[in-house]
Amino acid sequence: MLNIALAKGRLGEEIYSMFEEAGYGVSGMREKTRKLIFSDEQRGLSYFWVKPSDVAIYVERGAADIGVAGKDILLESGADVFEILDMRKGLCRMSVAGPVGYSSKPGETIRVATKFVNIASEFYASKYQDADIIRLNGSIELAPLLGLSDVIVDIVETGNTLKANNLCELERITDISAWLIANKASYRFHAAEIRKLANDLERIVSGKEV
Ligand code: PRP
Repeated sequence: MLNIALAKGRLGEEIYSMFEEAGYGVSGMREKTRKLIFSDEQRGLSYFWVKPSDVAIYVERGAADIGVAGKDILLESGADVFEILDMRKGLCRMSVAGPVGYSSKPGETIRVATKFVNIASEFYASKYQDADIIRLNGSIELAPLLGLSDVIVDIVETGNTLKANNLCELERITDISAWLIANKASYRFHAAEIRKLANDLERIVSGKEV
């Protein structure tokens, strides 16, 4: 049985459509129920719907053999998994944003509000800039508006949230998308199955017929 963790929500459903298109659908997955596990014993497939930020944990610890997680979650958690295929979905970027025209003064400790404290810390460490990282859980854009921070490190997709709050993107840290990941031990035990699945999905990602 191949156990697959997918993120609950719109992006997870789009990802599941790609699995289905690649020939890995199981019945019941589209039901609007509160059920979280859908298995097809004959086909040897079992899907779990998990919280997006938990996919990497399920896979790292082997509760799921494979999963699809955002690069933001992978970078932030530092999960020890194999990143197998860029699914090219959920495209966005991790950026520094702040008030229009903001720039830090040399030697200044910059105050940074973010949900992604590890990504932000590593980014400023790589620039040898002192940063006071302030962990928030949401509505990050409020922080510079209320003087809690100088800038934010957050996900930018359309840029609408920044624009609506008179903020702008100052620096792009990295591009983000959803990645197919595998547990390291599972990848050895189920090597042929996982490679075939990745190849079948790769054809869908690049728009070819399976
Ligand atoms: C994310 C992110 C930004 C917004 C960016 O928030 O934190 O606030 O989306 O998208 P945009 O560039 O298309 O406007 P999310 O909706 O996930 O909620 P959050 O406030 O809990 O982070």
